[in-house]
Amino acid sequence: MRLLPIVFLFSAEVALAQIQAPALPGAPAISSSDRIYTGDQTSNTITVIKPSTYEVLGTITLGEGRLSNLLNPQYIKSVDSHGLGFSRDGKYINSISVTTNTLTVIKTLDNSIVSQTYVDRAPHEGFFSADNRTVWVATRGTNYVDIVDGIAGGIIGRVLCAPGPSKVLFSPDGATAYVNHIRSATLDIIDVKAHKVVHQITGLGDIFSSDMMMNAQGTIIWAAHKLAGKTSILDLETRTVVTVLETGAETNHPNFAIVNDITYAWLTVASTNETKVYRQDSPSSIPVYITAVRSSGIEPHGLWPSPDNTRMYVVNEHSDTVDVIDTANYTIIHTMRVGQEGQALVYVAGAVPSGHNGTQNLGVQGLGHRVENRVFSIEGHGNASTLLTVRNVNGLEMIQFIGRKLNGNTTYLASASCYECNGAQIPLLEFKGVNPNPMGCTTAGQVLGFTKFFDVYDINSVTVRPLENKVDRKVD
Ligand SMILES: *[C@@H]1O[C@H](CO)[C@@H](O)[C@H](O)[C@H]1NC(C)=O
Ligand SMILES: *[C@@H]1O[C@H](CO)[C@@H](O)[C@H](O)[C@H]1NC(C)=O
Ligand SMILES: *[C@@H]1O[C@H](CO)[C@@H](O)[C@H](O)[C@H]1NC(C)=O
Ligand SMILES: *[C@@H]1O[C@H](CO)[C@@H](O)[C@H](O)[C@H]1NC(C)=O
Ligand SMILES: *[C@@H]1O[C@H](CO)[C@@H](O)[C@H](O)[C@H]1NC(C)=O
Ligand SMILES: *[C@@H]1O[C@H](CO)[C@@H](O)[C@H](O)[C@H]1NC(C)=O
Repeated sequence: MRLLPIVFLFSAEVALAQIQAPALPGAPAISSSDRIYTGDQTSNTITVIKPSTYEVLGTITLGEGRLSNLLNPQYIKSVDSHGLGFSRDGKYINSISVTTNTLTVIKTLDNSIVSQTYVDRAPHEGFFSADNRTVWVATRGTNYVDIVDGIAGGIIGRVLCAPGPSKVLFSPDGATAYVNHIRSATLDIIDVKAHKVVHQITGLGDIFSSDMMMNAQGTIIWAAHKLAGKTSILDLETRTVVTVLETGAETNHPNFAIVNDITYAWLTVASTNETKVYRQDSPSSIPVYITAVRSSGIEPHGLWPSPDNTRMYVVNEHSDTVDVIDTANYTIIHTMRVGQEGQALVYVAGAVPSGHNGTQNLGVQGLGHRVENRVFSIEGHGNASTLLTVRNVNGLEMIQFIGRKLNGNTTYLASASCYECNGAQIPLLEFKGVNPNPMGCTTAGQVLGFTKFFDVYDINSVTVRPLENKVDRKVD
């Protein structure tokens, strides 16, 4: 009993410092000053949501949507809105445009652009350090993290690390940074002041870890392995891998919520349209599976809790929606339509002080467009299947296939019958799987085509079949 007051004091201090989620119990309730942001890859926007009223206030435009002027050689705006982070004081968010290597810092008060910096090749996720000014950016095409002055703009430093850094997280006290990778089964631990990797946790479940998240206490990291369908559970106190869970194909982002003093890890699993929930009682304990929340839409991706731990917000990448989940009973209590193809989602407490509306510089690009999804099995090919997503973009439709459990070396043809073709199947596109697994199955990550589709083709007539005798023609 004598220890109790000390533990309580410590927790209260951390809770005070942690106004942003994931936060310890005691953080403020959802307020009208708070905002949620999603990084919308296809509409090339950031959607701004007011969580207290579920209002979608509008979108911040970073460039034109797919497939428009941005293929023009003279195009100079940003392309592929993807990763998001924020400063702990809630005054800024940072956005990554993966294709143009752009880090954009935006003022949350009025959605204005504060700075844009061209960072190194293939940035993915970045985050403000605890100084609320410098942004550390994981640049996947390199073996270093770029350090950027988020206010003035410009790269001011680089930290060498293992190949393919994918995301950067900071400890609650800001002294330590953690980096996962897409080409190394390690977690790099960096001394923030020294700009140096001081330790490396080895033996993660796969070399490819796109996303990861740390709990509010700063004692656990869950590193998701999208391609392997696994998640590595890392104990930051002992700096060891606790276990590697089989979490499901296309495991996307993890995040955390504390309910009744129990720490729960939430994890989006895109291929099964669900967010899995596990409890983990201590950093060294094996997580226990609790339940899965079935998404209202397709391919859940980014997620973030409210600081009071009562809500989990999940963006459904292929439905262009955000689900609001009650963390007490795992029910979806609201769904909002957002920009197209949401990737990251962040919750920023205190983004817009009272007395301000925070709606300046917002538009409607990417909002309210039609999107449809269908899943097909491929007959005679084991358990091969494809997810088809068709969404309206700039007067054309983007047709996107994700192929799962495909046979290696087989070319597949997708076709559809048009409304005026008397039932004839018209070829749309061909694709092959990549990334063979030990069983010889392959997946096709994101096969894209653009055509006029809605009102021309019947989406229910789409078929995908193997071209058995297709031989790749050699070009002499
Ligand atoms: C950054 O913001 C947090 C939250 O407002 C604050 O506690 C901290 O002191 C700030 N850091 C600096 C260096 O100003
Ligand atoms: C995911 O959603 C699609 C579209 O609603 C559905 O056809 C498919 O069966 C779902 N998959 C799973 C595993 O629930
Ligand atoms: C879940 O809990 C909320 C209150 O937090 C309540 O409003 C809602 O009705 C509950 N839903 C179910 C299905 O129990
Ligand atoms: C929001 O506030 C700004 C500046 O105070 C004002 O110019 C604008 O008209 C307001 N917009 C709305 C929708 O109230
Ligand atoms: C299809 O999946 C089922 C269930 O996972 C499995 O038992 C079966 O062997 C698979 N079939 C093929 C051809 O891979
Ligand atoms: C594809 O074909 C090549 C050459 O015949 C073979 O070496 C390879 O194992 C095949 N891959 C799969 C996944 O079947």
